[in-house]
Amino acid sequence: MKTTLKTSGSPRTAAGDLVIAVVSGDEPRVAGALADIDAALGGLVTGVIARDEVSGSKASSALIHVPDGAGMKATHLGLVGVGDGSPDHLRAAGGAAAKLAASVKARSVVLATGGLDAESVQSLIQGFGYGEYRFDRFRTGDAANTPRVGRVAVFSESAKAADVQRADRLVAAISAARDLVNTPSNHLTPTDLAARAETLGATIPGLECTVLGRAELKKLRAGALLAVAQGSAEPPRMIVMRYRPKRRARGTDVLGLVGKAVTFDTGGISIKPSGGMEEMKMDMGGGAAVIESIALVAQMGLPIEVVAVVPSTENMPSGTAIKPGDVVTAMNGKTIEIINTDAEGRLILADALTYAVRTQKAARLVDFATLTGAILVALGESFAGLFGSDSEWTERVRAAGEAVGELCWELPLHPSYQPLIESKVADLSNSSNKRLAGSIYAAQFLREFTDGVPWCHVDIAGTGMIGGAGTGFGVGLVRELVEGLAAR
Ligand code: BES
Ligand code: MN
Ligand code: ZN
Repeated sequence: MKTTLKTSGSPRTAAGDLVIAVVSGDEPRVAGALADIDAALGGLVTGVIARDEVSGSKASSALIHVPDGAGMKATHLGLVGVGDGSPDHLRAAGGAAAKLAASVKARSVVLATGGLDAESVQSLIQGFGYGEYRFDRFRTGDAANTPRVGRVAVFSESAKAADVQRADRLVAAISAARDLVNTPSNHLTPTDLAARAETLGATIPGLECTVLGRAELKKLRAGALLAVAQGSAEPPRMIVMRYRPKRRARGTDVLGLVGKAVTFDTGGISIKPSGGMEEMKMDMGGGAAVIESIALVAQMGLPIEVVAVVPSTENMPSGTAIKPGDVVTAMNGKTIEIINTDAEGRLILADALTYAVRTQKAARLVDFATLTGAILVALGESFAGLFGSDSEWTERVRAAGEAVGELCWELPLHPSYQPLIESKVADLSNSSNKRLAGSIYAAQFLREFTDGVPWCHVDIAGTGMIGGAGTGFGVGLVRELVEGLAAR
């Protein structure tokens, strides 16, 4: 989907299959471009509103068939309510518009945004792009050829071309992350994921990608990542991407992004129940978000240096797999007793965090990971779990997510939880048999590998995959966060 700003002409006569106009308020006013369209349609819009078929409330919508001879190129007119005008409601309006587009199989859409401000126009585009997304790579026949919206023309009194491009790029990056998450594990191995990162590194100026394999990981003594990987026939990858801006904003340091990328999590020897296990192809959502978001930041040319570290492996049961009770040594030298091989995410993140700080010199960190089922129990699919070692940094991360509709809720880290991660035989254990504070346990474990650098952990097990599909959660948050750092 390509979204562009229209600087001439009018929505009424614009080329497109569907014109979408926004309406607001309890009794939506028909003015400006919408009044122009209403006149051409002989008062159909006024009528639909008078009959309460659509209102300005959140995601309210109506579809009008454009009669022959009305002088419009579009076959349909859609009306969507913008609710209270908040970013959240505007994204919902965009989503409603995408539904209308799908219902009429529109290939090109005109958005008449009326008096919306530039920020609101972007939220509308974001919602539209999100709603318009499909994953039909593995369908054949007619289902593979369902018409898609290829072009969106935006009419706005306030948004500039750069605003529309900013939204368009966000949609593209989120969609790319969703594609990765949705791709089954036989089509997306750690090697395939690394290939995607390498392609981005090769095509975006200022962005480079280095991929470490087993041999390099052995040299680095990445014992925790290698331990998880040893059960799989697929070799692990540590994907390292670095964006060096042409100009670095004054006083800014290197931002480190870390993302869990288990391309399939069976649980290993502590094997998961088979019901629903197919969803564990999405256990790389954190890595996908990190890869696509650093690429987005680079593409936008933001003046912040960023490094992304994505540890990737399968977690398989086999004759070579790690076993409960095994002790491994992480890259930072700490020993870990593996109580549960299904708590593999924290193991691979441990080495990635160490690598981000010690080798890549990240001065502040955010990690994204589909880490614990417990976060689903606590927060459901609405909020990601947020943990942090530095309150100011944590608040920045939270606020960045909120601005783009990626909600995070902070949960505590506290010394009183420390006994949870202690082991009888090693420095740390990766799990306990007590079912206590599972998400906090995992976060508290990760903190052991951050060397005191300001760090946030975002547990996206609930928000990164919804209804059996990837959401791209994290991409918008990172863009917002980096823009905020640049503006400071
Ligand atoms: N990838 C899972 C977490 C998960 C669960 C993500 C459900 C999405 C949906 C993670 O590796 C895992 O298995 N965690 C265990 C940890 C436990 C063994 C301490 C869990 O949450 O049960
Ligand atoms: Mn697991
Ligand atoms: Zn996992």
